Amino acid sequence: MSDVTSRLVAHPLSDKDDVSAFDSGPEPWAVDVSEFLRDDALDQQEKGLNKTQLFSLDNEVVGFVSLLASSIQLRKYSELPDGIVGYSTIPAVLFARFGVDAKHQHRGIGSAILAWTRYEVSELSIGVRFISLDCDPDNPALDLYKHNDFFEADSKPDKRTGMLTLVYDMTSSVS
Ligand SMILES: CC(C)(COP(=O)(O)OP(=O)(O)OC[C@H]1O[C@@H](n2cnc3c(N)ncnc32)[C@H](O)[C@@H]1OP(=O)(O)O)[C@@H](O)C(=O)NCCC(=O)NCCS
Repeated sequence: MSDVTSRLVAHPLSDKDDVSAFDSGPEPWAVDVSEFLRDDALDQQEKGLNKTQLFSLDNEVVGFVSLLASSIQLRKYSELPDGIVGYSTIPAVLFARFGVDAKHQHRGIGSAILAWTRYEVSELSIGVRFISLDCDPDNPALDLYKHNDFFEADSKPDKRTGMLTLVYDMTSSVS
C-alpha cells in the first residue's frame, strides 16, 4: 500500500460534505462524473437510488464511488462464465459512478477505491455474484478496470447506450 492510499479516509456522503470543487477532468465521461457528485449524488442518495462513499486525503475529497443494487440478465451477454445455469438473472452491485479529482489521479487512489468496493461487497450478508459497470469504449479507465480483473461481459458495446459492460466476478475474490 502506498503512502497516499494508506492515508485515504472513507466516509459516506452527507449534507455536511462540501464537494463543490470536485473536478475529475475535462473529458466527457469525467465531466459527467464530476457533475453527478456536485449536483445529484446527495439528492439521489436521499431518494434511496444509490449510496456514495467519499475518499479524503487531509480533509480534501479526492475521490468517490456511488453504488447501487442491480442485476445482470445472462441472455444479454456472451462472455459470462458458465456454471450459473438455471438462472436468467444474477444478482450484482452496479459500480455506477466513480471518479478521482484530476489533481490526484495516477497515484493509486482509483485502484484503492476498487479494492474498497470489492471488500465492502464481499462483506454484505446478501448474495452478489458480480460487480458491474458501464464504460465508454474510449475511456482509458478501461485499462484500470482490466488491470483489476474486470472483464467485458460482451465484446460489443450496448447498441442503445454505446457503453461496454464490464464485470468483476465475486467468486474470484480471495479477500
Ligand atoms: C478512472 C479514474 C477514477 C482512475 O483514478 P486514478 O486514481 O487515476 O487510478 P489509479 O492511479 O489507481 O490508476 C492505476 C492505473 O490504471 C490505469 N489508468 C487509470 N486511469 C487511467 C487513465 N485515465 N488513463 C490511462 N490509464 C489509466 C493506468 O494503468 C494507471 O497507471 P498509471 O497511473 O501508472 O498510469 C480517474 O482517471 C478518473 O476520475 N477519470 C475520470 C472519470 C472517469 O472516467 N470515471 C470512470 C467512468 S467509467
